[in-house]
Amino acid sequence: SFTVELARSGVSFVIPADKTIADVLIDNDIDLLTSCEQGICGTCVTKILDGTPEHRDRYLTDDEKAANDQFTPCCSRSKSAKLVLDL
Ligand code: FES
Repeated sequence: SFTVELARSGVSFVIPADKTIADVLIDNDIDLLTSCEQGICGTCVTKILDGTPEHRDRYLTDDEKAANDQFTPCCSRSKSAKLVLDL
């Protein structure tokens, strides 16, 4: 598991292995738009302020992925113990 922190509210959530980041945020009434939930459409793209994502989408380009400043929380995960999101 890893932790996702929302920069605007300072709230943190632990993301278990069997749930996506988007699932956990939406379960907790955080305003996150999703559509395909498979890393294809880009609807959920979210800015990252700190931490390193593990990109699992097919939406961002390789260059965008390498910059590690945005990701798709519907399917991507984290390589670092904590991700801080611009939410
Ligand atoms: Fe489509 Fe995340 S909801 S890429």
